[in-house]
Amino acid sequence: KRIAIFASGSGSNAQRIMEHFKRSHDAEVSIVLTNNPEAYVLQRADNFEIPSHVFTRHEFYHTADVVNLLMNLQVDIIVLAGFMWLIPENLLKAFPNKIINIHPALLPKYGGKGMYGDHVHKAVLANEEEESGITIHFVNEHFDEGEIIHQSRFRINKGDDLEMIKFKGQQLEHLHYPKVVESLLKRMKSL
Ligand code: GRF
Repeated sequence: KRIAIFASGSGSNAQRIMEHFKRSHDAEVSIVLTNNPEAYVLQRADNFEIPSHVFTRHEFYHTADVVNLLMNLQVDIIVLAGFMWLIPENLLKAFPNKIINIHPALLPKYGGKGMYGDHVHKAVLANEEEESGITIHFVNEHFDEGEIIHQSRFRINKGDDLEMIKFKGQQLEHLHYPKVVESLLKRMKSL
């Protein structure tokens, strides 16, 4: 089974997934894709000797380049890990129910356009929520709206600041994302 990871930034989740499947005989991360030539995830991919590919906005939205690349690689699942662009229709159609994303909140709360990174945690803090969490979901044509696959939650204690909430969320992301990818790949066996 072949995994493609899309990421726009640091790629700490991508790193965990690359680590997890490095030891696997059933699946591998075949490629890392990004819209951002400066993204640290490219360095991480290099460290694992995993090929990477940078694409432009024009290529992504107005050509079949990325779809063709992923089809040629016979990718089984596309994992978004901090990828900041909406997925175009041609990609959704080519990989139905095979594109997943992770979001640092308990969707449907704190999702949608503009709700990413610190914006999410700041909103959670401003609303004095007593808990937050992470959501892994299928991707559709809207930000953060596809069917939910997995959620885990953590408590927000009095005095928890932005950094603490971010940290708690990230711990859960790193723990669960690789496992969810693995179990989805197992379920996809018959496809
Ligand atoms: C994660 O918090 C994820 O939920 C969100 O973007 C962040 C990516 O972080 N979609 P990293 O690049 O994996 O460190």
